[in-house]
Amino acid sequence: MREGSHVIVLPFPGQGHITPLSQFSKRLASKGLKPTLILVSDKPTSPYKIDNDSITVFPISNGFQEGEDPLQDLDDYMDRVETSIKKRLPELIKDMKLSGNTPKALVYDSTMPWLLDVAHDHGLRGAAFFTQPWLVSVIYYHVFKGTFSVPSTKYGHSTLASFPSFPMLNANDLPSFLCESSSYPNILRIVVDQLSNIERVDIVLCNTFDKLEEKLLKWVKSMWPVLNIGPTLPSMYLDKRLSEDKNYGFSLFTAKSTECIEWLNSKQPSSVVYVSFGSLVILNEDQMMELATGLKQSGCFFLWVVRETATDKIPKHYVEEIGEKGLIVSWSPQLEVLAHESVGSFLTHCGWNSTLEGLSLGVPMIGMPHWTDQPTNAKFVEDVWKVGVRVKAEADGFVRKEEIVRCVGEVMEGEKGKEIRKNAEKWKVLAREAVSEGGSSDKSIDEFVSMVC
Ligand code: UDX
Repeated sequence: MREGSHVIVLPFPGQGHITPLSQFSKRLASKGLKPTLILVSDKPTSPYKIDNDSITVFPISNGFQEGEDPLQDLDDYMDRVETSIKKRLPELIKDMKLSGNTPKALVYDSTMPWLLDVAHDHGLRGAAFFTQPWLVSVIYYHVFKGTFSVPSTKYGHSTLASFPSFPMLNANDLPSFLCESSSYPNILRIVVDQLSNIERVDIVLCNTFDKLEEKLLKWVKSMWPVLNIGPTLPSMYLDKRLSEDKNYGFSLFTAKSTECIEWLNSKQPSSVVYVSFGSLVILNEDQMMELATGLKQSGCFFLWVVRETATDKIPKHYVEEIGEKGLIVSWSPQLEVLAHESVGSFLTHCGWNSTLEGLSLGVPMIGMPHWTDQPTNAKFVEDVWKVGVRVKAEADGFVRKEEIVRCVGEVMEGEKGKEIRKNAEKWKVLAREAVSEGGSSDKSIDEFVSMVC
């Protein structure tokens, strides 16, 4: 253990945030740091250790009492989380100092930029961790600075947006809140605010790797002290203890691992389409029906993650009709699935973790973005990294079954599919290089370690 090597890591309480920051904590532990991972939770338990005792997990309250529904009002949720962290974190830091375990830095989720001042007030360095790629953060930065104005609607807005080092983007390629600014004003404010104090941040960490966003790298590095440390793989699975802990509000890790893998084991190499939309996307009933029919008509095997709350949107008798062709599960061990040789493509919402996982494991993608940063990620998947295709939606966003069939066919069998597989293979190698010893992300983590120690 290094002298003075204690750091606090604080993710935003959401699946797409806890996963990369937990994995990053493991990386830090493997480099000799001593991370305390603070998890904001519905029902905090006492602290416990994971990763062979190298990481202390400290659950703290999200500010809601038992029986209250935290998901009623986003503003209220954000306020209560902020109030709870601002009360509890200083107490914890004080205790840590008293016990001679003074933390050197606070690695905090960029969606909570006010944590920078908390860190500085207590003599810690503030390291903002961005769980989304630069190609998205840079757009938010332009919006924050007022150098890009938000169109109020994406309809009738075919105007192309041009950002330095970007391909031309049309309205459908922009993060959704920017083209539908009135639809989610609170979320728009949160995502743009991530960049509000970036000029004062001591270290800016991002779950991406240098080669992946090479064109943007020079610019972001000239602006801020950036360290790209991703992909936060291949520590493939969260620690078992973390997986079984349902107390921080996410019981989502209860994957029926063996069921998925046994089913995949019985299939031919590259014959299965893996379908998942992450933890937040909710498709309406019509879209679920259409997707179900499209998958069936594609003729391919498919493994489809449908959350328990959405199972009633699957057509009646569907499971019997598809028989061996498809398996529907409520949650999957995604990394294990993507790493399986039977998986030939990944139909994804293009959340950043999923995109990075598909890319790092060399799985061709079919992007079906829904909102937030997903359209922009999908644009890069198709047109920049060329590791997949993106479904074409109707003007109202609806995706027809014929389009699903077309895209699955194109990636699994078509000529374009061959090209995509070649590119996917290339990016898989580059992603591994980045995190391997001496790779760009590995060196960035070393740099982070020497900066905080
Ligand atoms: C969201 C945003 O889309 C993302 O860009 C942002 O940076 C974080 O919040 P989310 O919609 O949850 O994330 O999707 P994604 O980023 O893809 O994360 C989902 C995670 O859950 C992935 O790590 C994936 O491996 C995991 N997962 C998903 C499973 O383990 N099993 C499943 O069945 C589905």
